[in-house]
Amino acid sequence: MAVIQDITGLRQIEANLAASEERLRYALEGTNDALWDWNLETGVIFFSPRYLSMLGYERKDHYATFERWLETVHPEDREKVRRAFDEARQSGLPYRIECRILTKDQDWCWMLNRGRLIAGEERRPSRIIRTLSDISEQKRANEQIRNLSNQIIHSQEEERRRISRELHDEAGQALTALRIYLDIIKKGLSEGNEKLRKELDEAIALSNQTLERIRSLAQGLRPAALETLGLSSALKGYCTEFAKKTHLAIEYEGESMESVPYEVGITLYRFLQEGLTNVAKHAQADRVWVRLGYDGHRITLSIIDNGKGMVEKTVGRSGGIGLIGIEERLHYLGGELQITSAPGEGVRLIAMIPWEGRHDPNHDR
Ligand SMILES: Nc1ncnc2c1ncn2[C@@H]1O[C@H](COP(=O)(O)OP(=O)(O)OP(=O)(O)O)[C@@H](O)[C@H]1O
Ligand SMILES: [Mg+2]
Repeated sequence: MAVIQDITGLRQIEANLAASEERLRYALEGTNDALWDWNLETGVIFFSPRYLSMLGYERKDHYATFERWLETVHPEDREKVRRAFDEARQSGLPYRIECRILTKDQDWCWMLNRGRLIAGEERRPSRIIRTLSDISEQKRANEQIRNLSNQIIHSQEEERRRISRELHDEAGQALTALRIYLDIIKKGLSEGNEKLRKELDEAIALSNQTLERIRSLAQGLRPAALETLGLSSALKGYCTEFAKKTHLAIEYEGESMESVPYEVGITLYRFLQEGLTNVAKHAQADRVWVRLGYDGHRITLSIIDNGKGMVEKTVGRSGGIGLIGIEERLHYLGGELQITSAPGEGVRLIAMIPWEGRHDPNHDR
């Protein structure tokens, strides 16, 4: 009697197992994601059929060990993938990583890997299970958006350069000629004509001021320092010039950043121009702190003033377009604008742009 009961129990377990395998098979077939199950004790990896079909392989041409599989990962991504696995094994935490994998047609397929460690007996890590999603389309779309955004920024800047050139060459030179004529007239003026001489002096002073204004406008439209000196020095130089013009005390602190893409640099420069102009126009502040930082993933530029603060923190409500334009530009680059303020406690503006580039902390310009 006891034997018969055991067999019934076993049958039940087998039936449950078959049912759950069936469910797993349906689940795997019904999803676009692939499954990858790595037994850390035996070293054997199970790839679901979807994994193979995503990449165009057949089961017979696919590798069943981690090292062989790693050979199909793009050389630039291998180290990152290996590190993610090692960290997952040590920490037991889920991981998420993007990498390129070679298809049978010798193309690269972008895959999002999400996985976690499964502990076996005595809590020893025994398996890593992960799902893989093909994100090549999404990557291509992101790339197109990025290219388009860069084009928008470049064409805006090209237009500003053109205006800057025209201001400098046309208006600037015409005004210089006018000033020379005024000088000639003044010299030719007969003695005793004091009233006219005074008026001429005023006209000369006005043309000098206007010339200076045009020169500074032309420079602001085309920040040559960004190309010649690099981001941090250009920002610092702008702060120094601005402080002289407005009598604001501006403290600048910035990490040097090598090879920041032009779109990123010019966007941060425009942010600084708008932020400082706003402080001068609206804040009634006497001190400003500007800081450029980088944490390996994103560049941040903050502008903090000690003025009266801002009531409306939603960009665009006041009718001004300065901060809206900056926010749009930051969005083009996948970045964002943060505004924090309280009445009487000044304004803190932070622009953030993701960037995975290099930076050299010893090289501070
Ligand atoms: N540092 C600041 N302190 C106090 N208020 C500010 C500050 N910066 C911005 N503001 C407020 O936010 C509003 C929006 O700024 P924004 O730069 O978008 O527009 P604007 O400066 O008024 O006009 P525009 O930039 O188009 O010439 C301003 O009108 C002002 O009321
Ligand atoms: Mg403004």
